[in-house]
Amino acid sequence: MEALPQFLWRTEYFGGILYNKKAVQAEPITQPTWDLLMGVQKGESGKLTLENALRVSKNTDLRKIVSWLQEIGALDKEFNLQGEIYAPPYPLIKNTICAPLRAYLHITDGCNLRCDHCMFACGKRVENELNTEQLIEVIKILREVRCPELRITGGEPTIRKDLFLITQRAKDLGMYVMLNTNGTYGDKIRKKLICSGIDAIIMSLDGLQKNHEKRRGKNTFQNVMGTIKFLSDHNQRVSTNDKIDTTVNFTFGRSNLKDFEGVAKLCARYGINVNLMPLRPFGTTKVRLMDDMLTPEEFMSFTQKVMEIRKDKEIVDSGIKIIHKNFDLFSEDPGVDHLPVPFDHSSCGAGGLGIGINPDGRINICGFLAKIPEFVGSNILEAPFYDVWFSPVMHSFRTVIKRHCEPCPYYRKQCFGACKAMAYAAIGDMGSIDRYCFVHLLNKK
Ligand SMILES: C[S@@+](CC[C@H](N)C(=O)[O-])C[C@H]1O[C@@H](n2cnc3c(N)ncnc32)[C@H](O)[C@@H]1O
Ligand code: SF4
Ligand code: SF4
Repeated sequence: MEALPQFLWRTEYFGGILYNKKAVQAEPITQPTWDLLMGVQKGESGKLTLENALRVSKNTDLRKIVSWLQEIGALDKEFNLQGEIYAPPYPLIKNTICAPLRAYLHITDGCNLRCDHCMFACGKRVENELNTEQLIEVIKILREVRCPELRITGGEPTIRKDLFLITQRAKDLGMYVMLNTNGTYGDKIRKKLICSGIDAIIMSLDGLQKNHEKRRGKNTFQNVMGTIKFLSDHNQRVSTNDKIDTTVNFTFGRSNLKDFEGVAKLCARYGINVNLMPLRPFGTTKVRLMDDMLTPEEFMSFTQKVMEIRKDKEIVDSGIKIIHKNFDLFSEDPGVDHLPVPFDHSSCGAGGLGIGINPDGRINICGFLAKIPEFVGSNILEAPFYDVWFSPVMHSFRTVIKRHCEPCPYYRKQCFGACKAMAYAAIGDMGSIDRYCFVHLLNKK
């Protein structure tokens, strides 16, 4: 099987997607433009068609798209498409893309830590964990269906001795590879990380020393900081193409909230982005940390604080991003609201853009629900991928109507709506409200 090139053109129910591996971006393209572009590639009189269309059409969008495609190198000056073109060998279904763009491969439930908040209550490896060969088989299936992004997670993926063999295989197949890790290890693994070709790393930092260690255990702060410094040094040494895109996950509750500014500034110093994750009531959080979850009032004031910190000179000068995907209602970004499902920001992407694979090979729709039998589907190694991706379990998750969000002015713009896992955890109804939503505290509604 050949390696995926930088550009992948994938036919979809609304036209197609251009996936640009270098930018880690999927651009939906509408049917009329897609047809023109595909006509060009087929070498029918298509080439003329696009040139003619550009000459005669008053459609400024088409001009913009074509010049953008040429600028990024996806289309050459003679209008030839660059990269791989793919149309699935099975029928397309409305409102569902033909295959995921991201696969979250949970390679283990085992872990070297026992965090207070762990959504999977991780620690022990399951007996029927996929072996190296089976994981490589999974990766081949994903490449076959043109899923370009592999996100390796767990548990703690670095406890598996074959981790770098698996990432190597995915890189050989041209996939974009991201690793979720707690960063708590020594130089041996750190060195392997920087030589592995992994494109991006997300590491957990849940506070400054006292709070991080309260959650994650003794000496974990110094340890993860060691990994952060190691990656930051690597990134300063190498050329842009060889840098590892590094982000810190800050999983916040009441007890570590006050550390956020310190964490953001620490990350700014090392040129690392920060992604904000609110505590969700699964795994050990449900047992130990329910009282640490914020009220809507606290969530609102934290969101305001995030806006202030984003404008802080140290943060601005560092160029890092502070990502707050949940209820970013004060964001000045107006959002876009005309994109086809699942690009329309109507949900976090679980089941729409992405799929999860449990350590035993069975698929899950959403990481937070990965251990709840009704959200777990067939084994990816045992069923045809088409059946897995279009299965009833996936379909019913995708088609949940967020009743409270539909009339909300922020929906699909600054907010992708209630988290279905949160709504499910609260009352077993995925279409209900998210306890963190604070829109009722604003006047705008
Ligand atoms: C499950 S961990 C796996 C990767 C790695 N072991 C780590 O801790 O970073 C992935 C991310 O989920 C976050 N997480 C775990 N339990 C959570 C919960 N109950 N609510 C929100 N985020 C949680 C972790 O803090 C971590 O950033
Ligand atoms: S959150 Fe990550 S590091 Fe902590 S116990 Fe869970 S899997 Fe392990
Ligand atoms: S009602 Fe829904 S869309 Fe509006 S802010 Fe709350 S969660 Fe977000």
